[in-house]
Amino acid sequence: MVGTAYIESVYNFYAGVYDFVFERFFAEGRRRAVAAVASRPGERILEVGVGTGACIPLFPENVHFTGIDLSQGMLDEAHGRVQKSNWNHVRLKKMDATRLDFPDDSFDAVLAAYFITTVPDPRAVVQEMKRVCRRGGRLVFVNHFMAPNVFINDVELALAPLFWRIGWRSDLKMDNFLKMTNLSPEKVGFVDRLGLWRTLYCVNHKNAAGPEEERPQRTFIPQALRRWGKRLATVRMRKTERVRD
Ligand SMILES: C[S@@+](CC[C@H](N)C(=O)[O-])C[C@H]1O[C@@H](n2cnc3c(N)ncnc32)[C@H](O)[C@@H]1O
Repeated sequence: MVGTAYIESVYNFYAGVYDFVFERFFAEGRRRAVAAVASRPGERILEVGVGTGACIPLFPENVHFTGIDLSQGMLDEAHGRVQKSNWNHVRLKKMDATRLDFPDDSFDAVLAAYFITTVPDPRAVVQEMKRVCRRGGRLVFVNHFMAPNVFINDVELALAPLFWRIGWRSDLKMDNFLKMTNLSPEKVGFVDRLGLWRTLYCVNHKNAAGPEEERPQRTFIPQALRRWGKRLATVRMRKTERVRD
C-alpha cells in the first residue's frame, strides 16, 4: 500500500493528461452517479476527489457545488474549467478527504466518483463524508470494485501492488467496503457488463464505521497461473466426460 503523499504526487503528474485519457472513458459512470445524486435547486453538493472537475458540468447550475482534492495539479485543471465556463456556483479547495475542513452537516449530498480506490483509508473518508453530509442526505459512489468473475479477480489481486504504484488499487471488494464503512446502499447499479464499475446510492444515517478492512490475501502471478491451469483442466475434463456420456 502507498501513502497519501505518494498519491498526491501521482495525480500532480497525471493532471495535464488526465482529461485526455479518462474523461470519456469514465463518462458513463459519472453520468449515472450524478443522476443518482438527483440534486435539487439550491442544494449544497460536495464532490470529494473532484480531480479536474469532470463531474461538474453534469450538475445543474442551480446547486452550490464544492469540490475538494489533494492534488494542486488536478485542481488547477478544474479551476481552468470553471473559469472557461464562467461558473459562479462552484468553489474548489485543496483538502485531504480524510480530514475535511467543513463543519458537520454542511452538505445535502456528497459524491465520490472514481475516488474511493485512490485513498489508502476509504473507511476514514466515508466517516468524513457522513459527518459533513446532513442526516438523511445522500452519499453516492461510482467506483471499481473487484469483479464477480474469479478469473478477473485473480488478475485484480495479482496486479494490486502495480495498480497502487500508478495511483489506485484494484483489490477492493464491494462487500469489504460496505462492511468497513457500515453502509447499506439503497441501490447498487452496474456501469459495465463485466461488473467492474458500480454505482452505490446510500442514505446518510450518520452511523459509526464498521471494523477495520479485511485486506484480501495477496495473489502472486505464478499462483494465479497455476490456479487457472487447474480450472481449465477441470473444465476440459468435464467436457470430455459429457462427450463420453
Ligand atoms: C481517479 S481521480 C477521479 C477524479 C474525478 N472524480 C473524476 O471523476 O474524474 C481521483 C482523485 O482523487 C484525488 N485524491 C486522492 N486521494 C485524496 C485524498 N486523500 N483527499 C482528496 N483527494 C484525493 C486525486 O488527487 C485525484 O484527483
